[in-house]
This record gives sequence, structure tokens and C-alpha cells, in this order.
Amino acid sequence: MTNKNLPPTVKAGILGGHFLQFRRNAPEFLQKLSKLGDVTTFKIGGQTAFLVNHPEFVRDLLVTNSHKFIKGRALQRAKKLLGEGLLTSEKDFHLRQRRMIQPAFHRQRIAAYSEAMIEFAEKMASEWQDGDERDIDREMMRLTLNIVGKTLFGANVEDDAQEVGQAMTTIVSMFNLLLLPFAELLEKLPLPHTRKFNNAKKTLDDVIYKIIDERRASGEDTGDLLSMLLAAQDEESGATMTDEQIRDECMTLFLAGHETTSNALTWTFYLLSQNPQSEAKFHAELDAVLKDKFLMPEDYPNLKCTENVLAESMRLFPPAWTVGRLAIEDHEFGGYEIPKGSLVLASTYVMHRDARFWDNAEQFVPERWETVSVKEAGQEFIYFPFSKGVRSCIGEGFAWTEGVLLLAALGRRWKLSLMPEQKIAHQAMITLRPKYGMKMRIEKR
Ligand code: HEM
Repeated sequence: MTNKNLPPTVKAGILGGHFLQFRRNAPEFLQKLSKLGDVTTFKIGGQTAFLVNHPEFVRDLLVTNSHKFIKGRALQRAKKLLGEGLLTSEKDFHLRQRRMIQPAFHRQRIAAYSEAMIEFAEKMASEWQDGDERDIDREMMRLTLNIVGKTLFGANVEDDAQEVGQAMTTIVSMFNLLLLPFAELLEKLPLPHTRKFNNAKKTLDDVIYKIIDERRASGEDTGDLLSMLLAAQDEESGATMTDEQIRDECMTLFLAGHETTSNALTWTFYLLSQNPQSEAKFHAELDAVLKDKFLMPEDYPNLKCTENVLAESMRLFPPAWTVGRLAIEDHEFGGYEIPKGSLVLASTYVMHRDARFWDNAEQFVPERWETVSVKEAGQEFIYFPFSKGVRSCIGEGFAWTEGVLLLAALGRRWKLSLMPEQKIAHQAMITLRPKYGMKMRIEKR
């Protein structure tokens, strides 16, 4: 396909196209592009990319014509770490794995996991002291890592937390380097960061293989995800998973299952601290629903205001700030030809702040979710923090439950205020993180 009819773009640099602008602040760069039209284009590392920013095109990309696309370069590159896990595998193999793993995320299973979510959150709430100054981004990472370790693998990650946590941080920060143009070449050289990445990967592999070995040896079914993975059999072929496949799925769930939720919680505490009226309403709901009793999984449906706060936080700071796909066939969006081999992006960050679809788009207004539900906004394709279609997040139900219960457990006892010197900016890596961390003061309520 020759592309004569190119969509609008912004001025590119002389070298490297739009790479520098993209790297400086990708969400804002995409937002700027989106002002030029519903389909726009840019060049990054020699590759032509398109941004689609109309609900119909997002539906087309993620649902109607999803078979014409595979994961974009970022997730292709993530195979180095995640192998052929759910997030990175494609087509029939992906569908088979998804079928086998889906039962672990059924509603009843999530209800069982929520006990552990509450237990870890209560533990953190009781460790905090009045007047503490804490790095809330790190605290949330520790909490969600412990929860994913426990609920999915029955593992006590806290014991290894230092080592595992450091390896994870190294891997996530190195990830940006893996995405640079020529990264494929760079990683073949014995550079310090390549070595650091390989060491961190080995640390994580060792932890995961150790967990798999112990479980195979004990033969115990503890009702967690790992037990299900070990027992899972494809209903059509009767195949079971090899240790390597189980490792890939564990690594995927480990990674996909904590950093996203942790960022969502960190941004939520930040937004609450900046919006005292919303914060007061959130606290009032916790006091009214929970009174002096223990927080229980059954409280979740009554924590509507808390859920709205989380929904609104993921509107403004969606942890998965963009979804990228590579076209494996020619396609067309809004009359523009998208040749095979192009990268196509749909950005939650951009769509969630588009003033055509949202009143007071840049403001934090949890009340908006009293008149429109998350489900309705999702069906309109203006809100998709967990993506859509066959590649949507398998952990969505897990994440909502975890997010609401953790906010409730911490928020019922503690009020968090931003430290005055704390600078706020986001850093769009795989997930949307606070660039300078999030130091907050903890006060007893
Ligand atoms: C606030 C929290 C979370 C957000 C915002 C989020 C977002 C997403 C998004 C946008 C995708 C699609 C990525 C793409 O298409 O390229 C995805 C996929 C995935 N997520 Fe999540 N996620 C969250 C929590 C979780 C949790 C808690 C788990 C597991 C316990 C999880 C496991 C996965 C997996 C395995 C996939 C790949 C699914 C597939 O392709 O079949 N996520 N997530």
C-alpha cells in the first residue's frame, strides 16, 4: 500500500523524527497531536506511527479488526523478560493460554483473594505512625507486590522483598533502554546496563523457578493461581504447561499485576490530597460504611464513592497510558491508509482528557461517575484503562477489588498530605509513574 493521503502531524526534528519530543513527555506529545485530528501520524526511530483518537477507531483497533494487529514494539521487546506469557503471546497460543488462566480470575476466586488484600493493607495501616513522612509510591509498590505474590503464588515476597524489589525496579527502569532505537544492537554489547538487566532477570527467574519447584514437589493444591497453572489442561488438546510456560505466565502476572495497581493508588492519594472536598466525602463514606468493624470483602459493593474516586483517578492518570499495536495487514482509519508494518496507538491518557467527551476534562470530579457508569463509558470507548477486546486486562476485576479495599483500609485510619517540596510530574514508562516519587505526610484521622 502506498500512502499518498497522510494524516496531519507536528513539525519533526531534523534527526530522529519526533523521537525527542516523544521521549521528553510522550502523553503530552500525543495530546498535542490529537488536537490536529482523530487520526494523526508521527515518526519514531524510523518507524511510521499513527495515533487514533476517536471512540469508533479505538473500537475498530481493539475489537472489530483486532485480528489485523499484533502487539507493538514495546511488548515485542518485553518478550525478553516475559517470554510467551499472556501479555506478549499472540493468536491461537494466546487464546489457549487465556482459556486456561481465565478461571483463576473468576468472581469467586477474587473474593477469596480479597482476604489477603485486606490482611496486607491492614498490616501496612498498623505500621504507619502519626506524623510519618513516607514515599507513598514505594509503599504502594511494596503492598501490591506482596499481594500479588501471596494471592497468585502463595509466596511470601516480603522475605525476598529487598532483592526482588530491587530486581524489579532495575528491570522496569532498564525497560526504557530496551525500547531505544538500535536497542537490539546495543543489548548484544557487554554494556553495564545490559549486564545489570540480565542479573536482575536471573534473580527474578531464580525466585520464580524456586516457587514452581517447591510446589511441584509438595503436590499441594493451595487454591492459588500457581496450583491452577500446574493443573491446567487445555480442553481441546489435553496439553499441560511446561515449567517454562509456567515461568512466563508467573513473570507476566507478577509484573502486570502490581506496578499498574500501585501507580493507580499512588495517583489516587495524590489527587485526594489536592481535592479536600472529594477527600472529605471519601472519608465520610468509609466512616459510615465501616464504623468500628473490621473491613470485610463483602463491604466492597457499599464503597461506591471510593470506587468512583478510583475510576476518576484512572481517568486522569491511567496506569496503562497507551495501547500500541503493529499492523500485520493494511487497514484504514477515517479514510487514511495505514500500511502493514505501521505502529498504531490508542491513548487512554489522551482520550480520557478529551474535552469533546468529558466536561471539566482536566478536573478531578469523582461525582461524574454517579451519572455515568464505568461500564457505559467503556461501551462508548471513551474510557478504557484496562483496554478492550480479546487482549483486555485479565486482572481487571482483581484490580478494582484490590484498589477499593486498599484505599478503604488505609483511608479509614490515615489522611495523606503531599509534602510541600514534592515536585509532581509523570513519567511514561511502561506505566505512568510519578517521576519524582510521591512523598506524603501521614496523619491520624
Ligand atoms: C489498575 C490496574 C491495572 C491496569 C490499569 C491494567 C491495564 C491493562 C491493560 C491496558 C492491558 C492491555 C495491554 C495491551 O493490550 O497492550 C492489560 C493486560 C493484562 N493485564 Fe492488566 N492492568 C491492571 C492490573 C492487572 C492485574 C492486577 C493483573 C493480574 C493479577 C493484570 C494482568 C494482566 C495480564 C495478564 C494482561 C494480558 C492479557 C491478555 O493479553 O490476555 N493486570 N492490563
